[in-house]
Amino acid sequence: MCGTELVETDLSEGILTLTFNRPEKRNALNLAMYAALAAGIRKGDDDDVVRVIMLTGSDDCFTSGNDLSDFLAAPPTGLDSPVMQFLLALSQARKPIVAAVKGAAVGVGVTMLLHCELVYAGSGATFQMPFVDLGLCPEAGSTLLLPRLMGHQRAAELLLLGETFDAEKAREVGIVNAVYPDAYLLSAARAKALQLAAQPAAAVRLAKSLLKREYADRLQETIAEEGAQFVARLKSPEAAEALQAFMQRRKPDFSRFA
Ligand code: COA
Repeated sequence: MCGTELVETDLSEGILTLTFNRPEKRNALNLAMYAALAAGIRKGDDDDVVRVIMLTGSDDCFTSGNDLSDFLAAPPTGLDSPVMQFLLALSQARKPIVAAVKGAAVGVGVTMLLHCELVYAGSGATFQMPFVDLGLCPEAGSTLLLPRLMGHQRAAELLLLGETFDAEKAREVGIVNAVYPDAYLLSAARAKALQLAAQPAAAVRLAKSLLKREYADRLQETIAEEGAQFVARLKSPEAAEALQAFMQRRKPDFSRFA
């Protein structure tokens, strides 16, 4: 384990753990982190020693999502951008992925969970998908996966209003498998990951791919279409106002845009 990395990697007992490690920015994912995550997931998927990939963050924050200054300074341009490489690696991984969420999960911090097999949250975790609030559009295949998981109305509520919701609601709508007291979250999630790692690996991979068979192709198409729309929305006046407002720590004003 290297403690100075923005994404820490640890491989033990067949579990490759990738830990977001940029706590001073609430683990906001920058280009280097997306690239490290994409490479980590791909490497884990190809390494026979790895049986489970685990994603987690810091004690007080899972991740605040995409680095908002990067949206202005280094916006994604296409399928070869680090964020798209991360989404492709995540959505195409053959091995099971487990997530342990403590603190805030925002934006892609929530939508990445839709690609995991097992998601555990601490009781104090919070969730928010403020894509529309930012003048952007949902990403990571969430416009396909969320309604599939919880129905149109509940998905629309979470995406269009962009409100923060708690761990119990995340469990109720199906994003989270189980909620544990914050103090036990990591050990509980690891115990489940170990249980999964002890299962016959080829059978686990086959079951995962069969579970996704019905929508696997549509998922890749959706990620690409959302990605193209997202890139276009970054140039919209609504997004410009929202991002400037975040930097200036003020409320955005969308009233002048039709
Ligand atoms: N991108 C870039 N910087 C971010 C960030 C993000 N997504 N989220 C937080 N930060 C930075 C803040 O600008 C601040 O930096 P500073 O100390 O240099 O001023 C620092 O991280 C701490 O953030 P702060 O808002 O003070 O922390 P908090 O604990 O009060 O709130 C969040 C945590 C996650 C609820 C809040 O930071 C937030 O809502 N962030 C934006 C999330 C977002 O919109 N993500 C994009 C979704 S598409």
